[in-house]
Amino acid sequence: MSEQQTSSFDLDALIVQLKHASRGEEPAKKIRHLIETAVANAQGVIDGIPHFEEDEVLLFEDDAVSIWHCRFLPGAAVPPHDHRMSAVIGVYTGQERNDFFENDPNGLIRKSGEAFLASGDVLSIGPSAIHSVACVSEAPCCGIHVYLGALTEIDRSLFDVQANETLKFTDENYQRLHAADV
Ligand SMILES: [Fe+2]
Repeated sequence: MSEQQTSSFDLDALIVQLKHASRGEEPAKKIRHLIETAVANAQGVIDGIPHFEEDEVLLFEDDAVSIWHCRFLPGAAVPPHDHRMSAVIGVYTGQERNDFFENDPNGLIRKSGEAFLASGDVLSIGPSAIHSVACVSEAPCCGIHVYLGALTEIDRSLFDVQANETLKFTDENYQRLHAADV
């Protein structure tokens, strides 16, 4: 078989592999390897992944792992937030900019770095990370996001950087910051 031939992508099989990896040793490393392998075959993912109506779709969640498909539309931005658990993000189409934030010695929330992810790129972030995400491509940016825990079951935070405020991660606060950011 030619190496240039695009292999097929099976989302259900990947979910089974991610669930298995989340229960073994070094889950973050193994999940990263699975996501790297998946998005390295970006055209295969584009061809093989189902079409999702919603921009953010929870594919699976239990105590050990949460798996999401996320689509960011051009110009859209997700306000700064935390996850309180490690995460692995793999992009298979489009490009996104991640801005990272941290508390400086004066207690201010300041930008501390950034990372651009394009098709085939994978980002691993730790449990204390704070980031915002913006789609910077002319087409939607799509990726598979894996969190090492039950993301919907925990209290998380949003960050209003301009007001230097930490807020509860609620729909209301999300919409307010989202509207202010764009
Ligand atoms: Fe995030």
